[in-house]
Amino acid sequence: MPNQQRPGRITVPAIRAMKGRAKIVSLTAYTAPVAALLDPHVDVLLVGDSVGMVVHGLPTPTAVTLEMMILHGQAVVRGSSRALVVIDLPFGSFEASPEQAFTSSVRVMQETGCQAVKIEAGEALAPTIAFLVQRGVPVMGHVGLRPQAVHIDGGFKAKGRTADERTRVLAEARAADEAGCFAIVVEGVAESLAAEITASVAAPTIGIGASSVCDGQILVSDDMLGMFERTPKFVRRYADIRSSVTAAAAQYAADVRAASFPGEAEVYRFKPQD
Ligand code: KIV
Repeated sequence: MPNQQRPGRITVPAIRAMKGRAKIVSLTAYTAPVAALLDPHVDVLLVGDSVGMVVHGLPTPTAVTLEMMILHGQAVVRGSSRALVVIDLPFGSFEASPEQAFTSSVRVMQETGCQAVKIEAGEALAPTIAFLVQRGVPVMGHVGLRPQAVHIDGGFKAKGRTADERTRVLAEARAADEAGCFAIVVEGVAESLAAEITASVAAPTIGIGASSVCDGQILVSDDMLGMFERTPKFVRRYADIRSSVTAAAAQYAADVRAASFPGEAEVYRFKPQD
């Protein structure tokens, strides 16, 4: 097995037990070096299918494959030693049947060493979640704005504007909870709906664009690190990586063109005549 789960990681029951006690801190990670930097500071590292848009430049997450999730999942497990690692089941890898979801989950867990999978699920997928949990697969749910539903929804749209939509999202969260999710991501909903969901489910809620009433928070790390020109309303930027990379690349280009890089300090010389 390429990745063994190391002892000492935060466990699924430990995350579940944080509800009402301490806020759950979570960020996405897709590579080993970034996972290593984030690991000491977070409770959960999520290998989200946002990897498709963030790393691979895809327009939506729907083209992300199980193989991509496994490759990035292996890197994140290798790069971390403390946080619970959760990996998204991508579009098309779990919807056909509970058996398909189980086969995909087992591949993801066995080939990466992660501890849990995440499923974007409406009420219809509750039996699939129950099927997985009853067979030993810990599942994180994901309700509200579900990026994998981008084509059905006609875009990435916040949820809960109408009474019908609020009822539907609340029902999704309750169904995920009753099916056995150990935590539920709540994305892109108004604060009042996030509060209602958080109060009505036993599992901790992890909000993204769902206000501080949730039991924890998650952000796409590249968003909060300032990698992109556009920052969504619900993101706070904690760094300006984009400016740092741009400035570094410009300075490197100028130095190479001026022949001032490599300089004396960056050159190998083994003998005086070299
Ligand atoms: O894919 C992802 O990164 C996610 C988070 C934004 C919750 O689902």
